[in-house]
Amino acid sequence: MSRRSIIAGTGAALPPRRVTNAELAERVDTTHEWIVERTGIEARHIAADGETTATLATEAAQKALAAAGLAADRIGLIVLATATPDQTFPASAVRVQAALGIDDCIAFDVQAVCTGFLYALSIADNMLKGGMAEHALVIGSETFSRILDWDDRGTCVLFGDGAGAVVLSAADGGDRGILATRLHADGRHADLLYVDGGVSTTGTVGKLRMKGKEVFRHAVTNLADVLNETLAAAGHHADEIDWVVPHQANKRILDATARKLGLDPAKVIVTVDQHANTSAASVPLALDVAVKDGRIKKGDLVVLEAMGGGFTWGAALVRF
Ligand code: ACO
Repeated sequence: MSRRSIIAGTGAALPPRRVTNAELAERVDTTHEWIVERTGIEARHIAADGETTATLATEAAQKALAAAGLAADRIGLIVLATATPDQTFPASAVRVQAALGIDDCIAFDVQAVCTGFLYALSIADNMLKGGMAEHALVIGSETFSRILDWDDRGTCVLFGDGAGAVVLSAADGGDRGILATRLHADGRHADLLYVDGGVSTTGTVGKLRMKGKEVFRHAVTNLADVLNETLAAAGHHADEIDWVVPHQANKRILDATARKLGLDPAKVIVTVDQHANTSAASVPLALDVAVKDGRIKKGDLVVLEAMGGGFTWGAALVRF
């Protein structure tokens, strides 16, 4: 019997402070109408002092554990996807581990920017299938507000803070669980979306820089390709998909990708309007919204996908 990783519970956390486009327009030269028309974003959540990638991740993890009905000490693996860790080291994953009261488990961070959650999910899936653990926490958590140039209207309006988490549990047999994952990277495009600082270069944290139009163009092609590749790997067809949970970067990217694949837009989970782009947190945040509001149900065929800085991109096909 084949061993699979089942999504046993989901959770999410958002900083309480919600910032509308109108509020942003008071500090940068923009309008609510421009942001909505180009991106679909209406509001984002911004972390306060003391709210960090690790504290948001811990809250999302606690909710995912509660949804799975699992005690924290049963977790054998924590993989945290983030590009905005609390510190250069240790990994924010061990801060989460300690906050959850877990004395010993595998814990590390993964950095693939907006695709981070897909990378983390694929790594955890393979580690569970390899017998390294029985239960894993896979978390995407970000505080992008800390690396935004608040004077650059072309980027600061696009991002928000938050965290999402899933509990993965190993199961033998049955047709539920992660059916296939596919990951990619192409570093030739690393300078289209990057942070202009770093430990080993400037010694500073740096700020996010992006050539938005070029990112947009690559995003639609790469996402459509990796969705088809992942479906084919599991022997499924786009017609069979119940729900698509995409990385929430821009409503126009979501619409264009759905069109390219001939998918019904009603099957695409959209949270970018309320969360903006939360990088590695966006897929598990959107997943949690759709699970909690009852759209995604047991037995549904769900595809998760993301693309981000690097470029990196990937997808996962899951039977809930
Ligand atoms: N408010 C008002 N005007 C603005 C703003 C703003 N916030 N930002 C830019 N503009 C202006 C520009 O200055 C420019 O003015 P100009 O013509 O006088 O020079 C004009 O609007 C058009 O700017 P463009 O950058 O060409 O606008 P575009 O239609 O490409 O939209 C956007 C920009 C929204 C960034 C788009 O390119 C995009 O969504 N790209 C994808 C990037 C993305 O989502 N990245 C996220 C990370 S990667 C990922 O997750 C997939």
